[in-house]
Amino acid sequence: MPTPPGPFGRARQNVLYRAGISGITPKVPTGPERLEAAARRALLRRPGGRKAWAYIYGGAGAGRTMDANREAFDRRRIIPRMLRDTTDRDLTIELLGRRLPAPVLVAPIGAAGLITSGADLDVGAAAAQRGLPYILSSQGSSPMEATAAEMDAAAGTGAAGGVGAAPRWFQLYWSSDEQLVDSFLSRAEEIDADAVVVTLDTTQLGWRPWDLDLGSLPFTRGVGIAQYTSDPRFSELVAERIAADEPEDPVKVTPQAVRTLLEMARNHPGGLLDNLRAPEPRAAVQTFLDTFSNPALSWDHITTLRERTRLPVVLKGVLHPDDARRAVDLGVDAVMVSNHGGRQVDGSIGSLDALVAVREAVGPEPTVLLDSGIRSGADVVKAMACGADAVTLGRPHLYGLAIDGRRGVGEVLDNLLAEIDLTMGLAGVRSWDEVDGGLLT
Ligand code: FNR
Repeated sequence: MPTPPGPFGRARQNVLYRAGISGITPKVPTGPERLEAAARRALLRRPGGRKAWAYIYGGAGAGRTMDANREAFDRRRIIPRMLRDTTDRDLTIELLGRRLPAPVLVAPIGAAGLITSGADLDVGAAAAQRGLPYILSSQGSSPMEATAAEMDAAAGTGAAGGVGAAPRWFQLYWSSDEQLVDSFLSRAEEIDADAVVVTLDTTQLGWRPWDLDLGSLPFTRGVGIAQYTSDPRFSELVAERIAADEPEDPVKVTPQAVRTLLEMARNHPGGLLDNLRAPEPRAAVQTFLDTFSNPALSWDHITTLRERTRLPVVLKGVLHPDDARRAVDLGVDAVMVSNHGGRQVDGSIGSLDALVAVREAVGPEPTVLLDSGIRSGADVVKAMACGADAVTLGRPHLYGLAIDGRRGVGEVLDNLLAEIDLTMGLAGVRSWDEVDGGLLT
């Protein structure tokens, strides 16, 4: 298991304080609010930054679910215990048969190419260097094969390194084309993904005023569809569409329409000039919009997975205890309690509140992950105390990417690990075995 090079806890503090002696302060702020503000500033300075910020920061409706996520963490308080020797602390966990340095995975994020074209490569590499799993999104900005190779190169693992691949999972949006689902699953197996994460809560996009008011959806500009344009089954669908010569929806010709076409051609594989002349870029976007999700998704689809892939199955987006129980009865390998960072149903339950009810419903054994709202090391400790086996880090890693690229993602991860470590030590616990509801008010 590669150990994170970014030192935990006190050692990380020392790095930052020592730099301060020379007047060097961290480019990536260490607290959640300043991190978010710095990312916003960094993005708004760039062309197209307003749309990028809206997509990354925005949520559904009035943003009440995002508030509920934070409120659920804020309502719970840690009661630190004193006079326990916590010199040696162990943050490691065992998850789906693999030992990990900490109970943290990097959440799947689509269209991170809004920040930088190599976003997935940078996020994957930063996670791999710390031995933390990265969940590659169906809506990735690089083909999953390229991201996996970059992760192995960064970690010195995989075929070239002679040891197992850097840990990665693949997140699936269940397409309305079943052959595309199979193609994604087999590609995920090929890149040695440790699990497939099926996202249940996005069978269609939520009502997102941040984007709607700018008329902006990254995929229409060809951002975030790299898994599709690199897929043989998807290429067949695009070719069929072009051959059918179906009339496209008319687009009002404006300077912005021309810019959109240019962006679409730039984001499509191949040369810009060829792409400007060819029908493929536009056909690919239309095909994606028609097939990316499946509002008919049901438990029947999930039951087919065992025959279709040998990968462990994780269901992401479970909130109701009955759904969690049913998933466990079906034999899935893990459920991820998540409301998609408040981007789907406005006014839904905070994910940490849902976790408590889910854990109660399924009992201590099943693997349950917590996603949505994690902003700090203390939040990770609270989630573990509420019954999570691990958590996923969403928006904050993107904020690091926006501020300082690959290095910025690494800083965010190092700071999170350091704060988890210090929170544990100061709360009087040495390992996750000692963390339970008794640690909280
Ligand atoms: C997401 N999320 C997401 N989830 C998923 O399963 N597939 C995806 O492609 C995406 N894409 C995506 C893009 C952006 C910009 C965001 C912010 C989120 C949801 C993500 O995996 C995770 O559930 C949330 O980010 C968790 O909420 P917080 O902690 O970021 O608030």
